[in-house]
Amino acid sequence: MSERKKIAFIGSECHPFVKTGGLGDVMYALPRSLVNMDCDVRVILPRYACIPQKYQQQMVWSGSFPMDLGETRRNFHVGVLEYEQDGVIYDFIDNAEMFSGSKPYTDLVADIPKFCYFSKAALAVLNYLDWIPDVIHCHDWQAGPVPVMLRTLFHNTPISRAKTVLTIHNLRFQGIYNIDTIRYWTGLPWWTYRYDGMGYGQRGEDANMFKGGLSYADRITTVSQTYAKEIQTWEYGETLDGHLRYHRGKLRGIVNGIDVDMWNPATDPAVPHHYDAGNAVEAKRQNKLDLQGELGLRQDEGQFVIGLISRLTDQKGLDLFNAIIPQLMDEGTQIVVLGTGEHQYEESFRAYARQYPGRFAACILYDEQLAHRIYAAADALLVPSRFEPCGLTQLNAMRYGTVPIVRETGGLKDTVAPYNPETNEGNGFTFVQYDAGLLLDAINRAKQMYFEERGRWDEMVARDMNKDVSWENSAKQYNEMYDELIGG
Ligand code: ADP
Ligand code: GLC
Repeated sequence: MSERKKIAFIGSECHPFVKTGGLGDVMYALPRSLVNMDCDVRVILPRYACIPQKYQQQMVWSGSFPMDLGETRRNFHVGVLEYEQDGVIYDFIDNAEMFSGSKPYTDLVADIPKFCYFSKAALAVLNYLDWIPDVIHCHDWQAGPVPVMLRTLFHNTPISRAKTVLTIHNLRFQGIYNIDTIRYWTGLPWWTYRYDGMGYGQRGEDANMFKGGLSYADRITTVSQTYAKEIQTWEYGETLDGHLRYHRGKLRGIVNGIDVDMWNPATDPAVPHHYDAGNAVEAKRQNKLDLQGELGLRQDEGQFVIGLISRLTDQKGLDLFNAIIPQLMDEGTQIVVLGTGEHQYEESFRAYARQYPGRFAACILYDEQLAHRIYAAADALLVPSRFEPCGLTQLNAMRYGTVPIVRETGGLKDTVAPYNPETNEGNGFTFVQYDAGLLLDAINRAKQMYFEERGRWDEMVARDMNKDVSWENSAKQYNEMYDELIGG
């Protein structure tokens, strides 16, 4: 192909502008990898008021137009602001009424209109800019209406030439509301609410924005091969397992990577003592002492420091972790938790910090820099998830020579090979059934190796740091899928 392939990403968050979890990392890293493979990539995002001023100030005005929306009988303002970084173009959609909140998401009452507007505006902007992509790559339920709108509201416009991919980062959230409300905010025709489209619920009385997107998209991907299989089962399918089995011919799993420049312990500006696989043991020891000082933990390089960096939600297996903390807290072990989320977990971690002063640090906040320092200082990182589409914290951890302890589900299973004492191979410690006793057992196996077989532990640290967790291989798979779609 002589012309560069054009790919438009549409999603609700993107590092460094706005991020609440791994979706933000992927929306940052994958477009950059694709640009290196000679694609033209534009990333379409809401211009939330909460995007830091330093980025807002550098955005360049590209124009604006009025857009009708659903049955509102109103014209909505659509402004377009452009920002470029390292060859990726970001187009921010401006509408103060829709995106004025202090957070990207609030509740469904506000989020349904916001993302119906966003989905339609994203397509309208591409037409307006006269930049017609070969593939529109949509992410999660917030962009679910895009494939549906493309084949209906936009079918006689230039953008309808594009093919669509919808990536499932997390099936738990689907954007479900009654049909009248969704029709009001989208204007989508009646047949899109049938059971083979957005129709949802016992009697098809609701509309499901994610389900609609999955029906109309040309390809569905999710962020690991294991999760691609899991979501076709009742246990992980979040009520859409039948729908996904029906569409399995166009579904595939492509595991996430991480941006190895942004996550690089040899250059990371947030990390006090830089290192690579050659000097990791010594530098990590110093980073540990620094972190212990910063967080008010007893400064002792001999401690086994376990980190947990996570949204504090049910998904992440925190009930298991919570239940065994008293059994973990011996004189040789320290725990550092970084996260925000459900009140019950925030409170229980705070209580443990009071109960175990100098040994348990509860950082109930969102802090990117601190996250980097924990990856660099901890010995092990815990990810005991109930379900995990991919998971990025275990990848960050391995890159920083921190041994992951994970439940074998979704992407955790695909990225962390369990340690095999017979062959001295593997990347971390794992357990299978969702059970607190098995989590405790996995942590104890890690601890035992740390204290009794340090040579083998250090070898695992080096193995993890040398493991390829970059985007390269996965970006190639996306690129090939785009080619297939364009060719076919
Ligand atoms: P999810 O998307 O389900 O939240 P992932 O493991 O894919 O889980 O991605 C989480 C990302 O968010 C990682 O980059 C992790 O470092 C980051 N993160 C999570 N919680 C915090 C926090 N409290 N402070 C800083 N970074 C965080
Ligand atoms: C979701 C998932 C997480 C995944 C991330 C990026 O938030 O919970 O497992 O890594 O998306 O794809």
